[in-house]
Amino acid sequence: MEHTTIKDCKLIDLRKISDPRGNLTPIEGGKDVPFDIKRVYYLYDVPGGESRGAHAHKQLYQLIIAASGSFSVTLDDGMNKKSFNLNRSYYGLLIVPGIWRDLDDFSSGAVLLCLASEHYEAEDYIRDYDEFLKYKGIK
Ligand code: TYD
Repeated sequence: MEHTTIKDCKLIDLRKISDPRGNLTPIEGGKDVPFDIKRVYYLYDVPGGESRGAHAHKQLYQLIIAASGSFSVTLDDGMNKKSFNLNRSYYGLLIVPGIWRDLDDFSSGAVLLCLASEHYEAEDYIRDYDEFLKYKGIK
């Protein structure tokens, strides 16, 4: 999926079922996100000042949510970049394949919840930025 751009990525306003007992946000594969969910992982206990990500995926779709706290996600398609500060549990950032992402500015106690379209595959990662630009046909 080398022809994608950051315009194919978007914030998805997830449902929020408000309740004085606490709020609830459901996410159903194929309905609230445009893919079937095969994997869930979460990132937590990120030390202040640390950054994560710094890679792209060839086939993987992801929805990234700040389940708690906040962090920034910078998306890059090799031509353009866009940053999102995620700080609400009812917004998900859809990241399509072929997009480089950098994650930083994690607040203390931040929990990044990721819903993914595929099982974990190391071969799906592009971890070298020059290789990413070549993959996108830019270099
Ligand atoms: P990585 O995706 O590089 O983390 P991040 O993008 O958040 O910085 O993954 C870090 C390590 O965890 C790497 O060795 C691969 C492993 N890992 C799994 O085994 N399964 C998974 O589902 C994920 C996301 C990572």
